[in-house]
Amino acid sequence: MPPRCVRTRAGSDRPQRGRHPPPLRSGRPDVLGDRSVTLVTGATGFLGSALVVSLVEQGEAVRCVVRGATAASRAAKLRTALDGRVAAKDQHRIEVVPGDLAEERLGLSAAGFAALGRDVSRVVHCGARVNMTLPYGPLYGTNVRATEELIELAEACSASFGYVSSLAAVGRSVTGEPFELHDSVSGGYGQTKWSADRLVSVAHQEGRVRAVILRPGRITAHSRTARSNPDDLLERVIRVSAWLGVVPVLDTRVRLSPVDWVSRLVVALFGTERAHGQAYHLIAAQSLLWADVPAALRAAGYEPVELPYQRWRSAVLAAGRDDPAVARLCHALPADRLSFDDRIGCEPRNAARTLAGEYPDLPPAAGLLGGTIAAWQRTGELPSVP
Ligand SMILES: NC(=O)c1ccc[n+]([C@@H]2O[C@H](COP(=O)([O-])OP(=O)(O)OC[C@H]3O[C@@H](n4cnc5c(N)ncnc54)[C@H](OP(=O)(O)O)[C@@H]3O)[C@@H](O)[C@H]2O)c1
Repeated sequence: MPPRCVRTRAGSDRPQRGRHPPPLRSGRPDVLGDRSVTLVTGATGFLGSALVVSLVEQGEAVRCVVRGATAASRAAKLRTALDGRVAAKDQHRIEVVPGDLAEERLGLSAAGFAALGRDVSRVVHCGARVNMTLPYGPLYGTNVRATEELIELAEACSASFGYVSSLAAVGRSVTGEPFELHDSVSGGYGQTKWSADRLVSVAHQEGRVRAVILRPGRITAHSRTARSNPDDLLERVIRVSAWLGVVPVLDTRVRLSPVDWVSRLVVALFGTERAHGQAYHLIAAQSLLWADVPAALRAAGYEPVELPYQRWRSAVLAAGRDDPAVARLCHALPADRLSFDDRIGCEPRNAARTLAGEYPDLPPAAGLLGGTIAAWQRTGELPSVP
């Protein structure tokens, strides 16, 4: 039997690596000659850091808007987020600039804000306050007003605009991948993403910017390294189930859309002229049954006991009294039922059509799940099996 205590660190399931690459630049990058710059927000986040890696791998010069009190702390924050994924020889192409999305004009002077756009030909707006419990008001500044201001910046420097929206912005009755959203959604976070998504589509239709809207569903662990978003509910449920030796019985399907696949799609679509003026739903077309999750845990050597959801939740709540890492999960568990169905009506088709032969392949879902569990065992995010 696996250990029944959870040894994950409070606040993070991600292994800390002791690597100290050279500091990133907080001055102008060595972007040179006719090369232009891609301005990225949210670069320190789960998806944004993967986007920076993908962009730099393509030879782009990237200017990252990072919040923080000092140039040194901002550079250190980005360096930690990139976690050695950008080769030292490429780091000169990353510039770190200050900016707080929650503040008007990102907390910059008019001149400082305008300077963000210097040499910029593309803006990838990925930064947002991702919080499923707050109402619209506290999220508005970061998620909506900042989007409006960044559209204005892109317009002023004739840059194209890639907006990372979310399937949370898409109403349940919506089918296909409409560029402009009409059906309203519930929940403060989804509403702010909806508002920002509309600002972008309207700005495109008015000819102010050339925009691409990218709406990921749940973004899951990296397909090779299994590096995951420590806050992702699905993956926390899987890990905690393995640690506690109990797994819920759920009536839901699961889609695995790895962060590296999503970031490759964002970069490929944003770099494709014919993608502009369209929206893309970035989720895997293939889904698994929830029953495949306990099966994958068994294949990895665990023997979890299957419990009805509410009994499983009680077991987790009890464990959470002694363990802060589990307690964090408890807050996110709904009382009655748990579902991971990602907008099944939003079947993703546009990306494959637009990219044709360039569409990145996704490994079969069952293999992805098994590979992720095996990688978490190697990194210590799951208990080893005797
Ligand atoms: N993860 C998903 O499953 C998922 C699904 C659909 C859509 N999305 C969208 O994808 C984007 C990235 O999500 P994520 O999961 O990567 O989120 P994340 O890990 O929480 O990253 C959010 C990023 O936004 C930045 N940010 C937040 N508030 C800021 C502020 N006031 N000023 C400057 N930067 C700020 C964060 O910077 P700090 O490091 O300073 O906090 C971080 O870089 C978001 O737009 C989200 O809506 C995510």
